[in-house]
Order: sequence, then C-alpha cells, then structure tokens
Amino acid sequence: MTVFPLLYVQCNPLLDVSAPVDDHFLEKYQMQKSSASLLGEHQKTIFEDLEKLPHVTHVPGGSGLNTARVAQWIAQKPHSEFTNYVGCAADDHYGNILKTAAEKDGVHMHLEYTTKAPTGSCAVCISGKERSLVANLSAANLLSSEHMHSADVLDTLKKCKLFYLTGFTLTVDVDYVLQVAEAARAANGQFMMNLSAPFLLQFFSENFMQVVPYVDVIFGNEDEAKALAQLMKWEYTSTTDIARRAATELPYNGSHDRLVVLTHGSAPTVYWNRSGKHGQTDVKPIAQDAIVDLNGAGDAFVGGFLAAYAFGREVERCCDVGNYAAGVIIQHDGCTYPEKPEMTP
Ligand code: AP5
Repeated sequence: MTVFPLLYVQCNPLLDVSAPVDDHFLEKYQMQKSSASLLGEHQKTIFEDLEKLPHVTHVPGGSGLNTARVAQWIAQKPHSEFTNYVGCAADDHYGNILKTAAEKDGVHMHLEYTTKAPTGSCAVCISGKERSLVANLSAANLLSSEHMHSADVLDTLKKCKLFYLTGFTLTVDVDYVLQVAEAARAANGQFMMNLSAPFLLQFFSENFMQVVPYVDVIFGNEDEAKALAQLMKWEYTSTTDIARRAATELPYNGSHDRLVVLTHGSAPTVYWNRSGKHGQTDVKPIAQDAIVDLNGAGDAFVGGFLAAYAFGREVERCCDVGNYAAGVIIQHDGCTYPEKPEMTP
C-alpha cells in the first residue's frame, strides 16, 4: 500500500496588517511598488500608520503558512493529517489569530513560543491590485536550535516526505534550512524551496548558494527569475530560459531530476526538469474587476501544486491545480478562500 506523503513547511509566521495606501505613503516609507523587504530603521512607524487607515484588516499571512493552509484546503485531508508547519511566534494576540486560523484550516502547527519578542507581522500596502510588503519578523526571527532539535520537530521531520521552505527562511538561520535539507535526503524525500523575493537573491545569496545543491524543486515568479539571472550572470530573455538554466546549471547533489517551476502572473506557468523534460500550462483568465488583490497568489499556487504533487499527479496537473488555487485567492481578500475548493487534486 502506498502511504500518502506528509508535507513539512517551515517559514516565518506573520500576521498581515493590510490596507490600501496612496503613493505618498509608499514614498514616505521608501517602498517600491510590488516589492518585498525586511523592516528598515526608516520604517519603524509603518504599522502605526497602517492601523490609522480606515480599511485596515488583519489576516493570517507569512508566505509558508499561506502555502500550508492552501495545500491543506486543496487536499481536503482530515485535520492535522497532511500539512505540518514549523516556525516561531509569541503567545499574544497576533500569535493567537495565526494559530487559530491555521488550526481551523487543518494545519498541524509545531510552533515555538518565545517570550522575547511579539509575533511577527507584515505591512501589506495595497495600491491598486499591487501590494508592497515590509516584514517585521520579530518572534519569527528567534526560532531556536532547541526547537529545531526538539522531539516534536525531529519526529515530524522523520515522518514527512515533502519538505517545503520559503526563501524567507534563509534570513533566519541557514543551518536550520540545511538541517531540513539533510532530513529530506535521509527520508528519501523531496526538498523544495521558493525563491520568494528578489532581495533574498541580492542580499542572502551566500546562504542561497549553500542550500541550492539540495533543492529538488525550485519555485519562483518572473521578478525572482530576473534576480536569479542577475546573481548567476545569465542574460535574461524569458522565464522559460531561466527555468532551463536553473534546472540544468545550478549546482545539484540530489537524485530526483530537479524540477524548476516559474509562474508569470496571467502568462503561462513554465517548468523544466534537469533531464530536459519541460512544458508550460496556461492560466485561466480572470477579469480585472474580479481581482480583489494579488496578495498571496504565488503562495497559493505552491499550495495547490504541493497538494496535487502529494497525490502523485503529473507536473502539468500540479501547475493547473496551483493556478486554480491562485485564481481563487486573488478573488478574495489576502490569502483566504471559500469552505471547499471546486477543483480536486
Ligand atoms: P506576496 O508576495 O504578495 O504573495 P505571493 O504569494 O508571492 O504572490 P504575488 O502576488 O507576489 O504573486 P507572484 O508574483 O509570486 O506570482 P505570480 O504573479 O506569478 O506575499 C504574500 C505573503 O508574503 C504575505 O502574507 C506576507 O506575510 C508574506 N511575507 C512577506 N515577507 C515575508 C517574510 N520575510 N517572511 C515570511 N513571509 C513573508 O502569480 C502566481 C499565480 O497567480 C499565477 O500563476 C496565476 O495563477 C495567478 N495570477 C496572478 N495574476 C493573475 C492574473 N492577472 N490573472 C489570472 N491569474 C493570475
């Protein structure tokens, strides 16, 4: 009998504090449209300012937690029987919102609780359909070696076959990422990572290059493909070409025929295996006025993809399910969705 593979996800648990902002707000905090970064000294008052805006909302976020919740939603497996999530938060108001939402959605949470900092949050500044993100990691940055070596986490690492870490984990401690990569190898599982944001490839490239040989499946979007091309000194011509080069030219020490999957908004999603197998899948068009916000689209894509992957589906099908999940999320506020999906893995 084939055992259904369990999914391990690790990232920074963050509560998204989200509001529509004007250009003046973005200028004040020196933010580029559609960017993602870590909180800088000059941005210390951004949350206070967001809280004063009339349409501010608080929704569970954190890239990996979005993915874990969507994977569980698409898979429709019993509570705590598919997706496992590891990260660090505090036992405070924001932390409780995150834990309650994730557990309600069926994610098995293996959180560390610190008393040294409050739960992390992410300023989601919406302008039109675009969003600019500033993450204040706080407690998420305090994930400890003790927790990573606790009986609970070690046991979870042993039980899982699919391991998904966002690139954001590279800013916390690269040793934790390598620990999970080694655990994936020991379990003969798949180690998967998202490029997550251009700033990671610009400022945490040493950590990325240390981890990349282990990565069996790489996810990313167009902007991250461009940042990867810049890091590797590859000429950027298309996402397809970067998928090919990432699959075949980035160092790899695994035995799973590395797969690279790149999304590109409403343009086709492309994939390329190290062995040369490749293809693309179309994204179902969504009317502009049906799009609420694009926040979490990429995270939801990976959630849908991973659910289908766990069911052993072909890559094309995994991409289609991923694009379905992303399509639902962009028609809802933040990373939220209706009770049941209309597409099965
Ligand atoms: P955010 O970056 O907003 O979300 P994302 O999941 O990366 O989504 P994007 O909108 O950036 O999509 P994408 O560009 O990746 O993908 P693409 O456009 O190709 O981040 C959200 C979360 O990150 C927040 O909750 C926040 O908490 C967290 N976060 C921030 N900093 C963090 C940190 N340091 N640590 C941890 N977490 C952090 O689109 C993907 C798919 O969407 C497409 O394939 C398609 O299916 C669909 N799609 C997109 N556009 C269209 C369209 N116009 N029409 C139809 N389908 C579309």
